[in-house]
Amino acid sequence: MRTREARLPGNYHDAVVKWRDTFIPDYDFLMDNWEKHFPKEPRFKLCAFRELGICNEIECGDDVGKPKITCPSDLGPDRARHLLGAIRAQASTEFGSIQQHRLTLARAQEETDQVWVLRMMAEELRHGYQMLHLLLEDDWSSVSDQTGPDLVEEILSMQTGSHVLGAFNIDFDSFVDNIVFCALIDRVGKYQLAMQRVSAYKPMAESMPKMLREEAFHLATGVVPMRRWATEAAEGDVYISMEMLQKAINKWLPRGLEMFGDERGGGSNVRMGFKPMKNAEAQDQYRAEVGKLVDDLNMRYLRARLPELGRNEADKLMEEIETERSTRHGVGWEDLIHLSHPHFFRRRGVPAFTMVGFEGETFEALDDYTAHLRRHLPESYLAGRDFRDYLETLKQVAAGELSAVDASRRMPSLRRVGGSCPCSRSVRWVSEEPLPAAADQPAS
Ligand SMILES: [Fe+2]
Ligand SMILES: [Fe+2]
Repeated sequence: MRTREARLPGNYHDAVVKWRDTFIPDYDFLMDNWEKHFPKEPRFKLCAFRELGICNEIECGDDVGKPKITCPSDLGPDRARHLLGAIRAQASTEFGSIQQHRLTLARAQEETDQVWVLRMMAEELRHGYQMLHLLLEDDWSSVSDQTGPDLVEEILSMQTGSHVLGAFNIDFDSFVDNIVFCALIDRVGKYQLAMQRVSAYKPMAESMPKMLREEAFHLATGVVPMRRWATEAAEGDVYISMEMLQKAINKWLPRGLEMFGDERGGGSNVRMGFKPMKNAEAQDQYRAEVGKLVDDLNMRYLRARLPELGRNEADKLMEEIETERSTRHGVGWEDLIHLSHPHFFRRRGVPAFTMVGFEGETFEALDDYTAHLRRHLPESYLAGRDFRDYLETLKQVAAGELSAVDASRRMPSLRRVGGSCPCSRSVRWVSEEPLPAAADQPAS
C-alpha cells in the first residue's frame, strides 16, 4: 500500500494553521505529549494523503466498469456540481466538529479521555485539509463561480450555527457530549467515508482509506469512555449515570439519522457512482450498529451490577428484562439504555416535525409532546438555542402556519458569513497572494 503525501499551497496551508491556532489552542500540548499517550503511533502530520493503487474502474451506478474519473470537467456539469456540494459539506463538518469539541474539552475528568479527543480534533482538521486539497488541486471553475480562495475562506469562516449539516450546529453542554458525539456522529462519518471509498471520482476514493483509519480511532474515543462510564455507574459512581448517557444519545441520534439525508433520496449518488447505497439503506444499517453499541453498554452495566453471573446467565437475564420489561435481581428495564424510535425528535427527512415519541407513539397536543421531550432530553440541552429554535418552529407547524417542508428548510443551514462584507463578524482567513506553482510535495 503506497501513499502520496501532499501539502496545500503555502498561503492555504498557513490559513489552516491559523485556524488551528484559534480553534485548537491545545495543539502544542498534544504534540508535546504525543509519545506519552500514543507511543506506538506515528506523530500527527497536517497534510493530505492519497492512497495509490486503488480500483481503477467505477464500482456502482450507470457507468459501472468504465475508468474512474480524475478531473471535474470530465464528470459533466450535473455530477461535478453534485460532488462539489458533497465535498463542501464534508469539509464543513470536519471543521465544524472541532468548534464544537473545543467548548467542553477542558471539562474532562480524565486526562486520557481529553488527549484522545484532542487527537481526534487534530485528525478532523486533517480531514478538512484533505477536502480543501480536493477543492484546490483540481479545477472546479466549470461548475462554480467561486474561486479557490473564496471556497476556502467560506469554509474556514463558518461558525457553529452556519455549518451545512445540522449536527454540527448544536453546542456541546458537557464532556459527555464530546464522547457521545464521537460514538454516534463520527459513526455517521465512518459510513459516509466507507461509501465514498468507491467514488467514481478517483481523487475522492484515494482520499478515503487514511481518513477511515483515523475515523476508527474517533469511534474508539467515544466508545471506550462510554463503556467505562456504564461499568462505573453500575458500581455506584455518581459522575455519569445511565440516564445521562441515555439522554445524550437521545439528543444526538436523531441528528445522526438526519445526516444520511432524506429517507427517500440518495438514488442520484448511486446512479452517478459516488456511493453504493441509498440514504435509507445506509441509515438503517447505522441505526442497527448504534443498537449494538447500546446492547454492549447494557451488558457491561448488568455484569458489573451482578458480577457473579456467567456470560450465558447474563444473556438470558438481559433477554428477560428487555422482553418483559421486568426487574430481575434489582436490575430493571428503566436502568438500561434504549434506542429511540427513528421518527423521534426529527426535523429533517420523512418524519420532520411530526410529533413522534421515544417509542414511536404519536402525540396530538403540542404541550404533551413538549413535556415528553423534556423528560427524554438532557436538561442543559433544553436550555440552549437549538432546542428553542426547534420548538418555536414546531409550534408554527402544529398551528398550521408553516408546512413541515418549510420548517425543515428553516433549521440551521449554510449561510455565507465570509468576509465580503466589511462589517461581517467573521475573519478573512485567506490572504490574496498569488499561488505558488507547485501544490504538492513529493511522497514520503
Ligand atoms: Fe472526520
Ligand atoms: Fe471523525
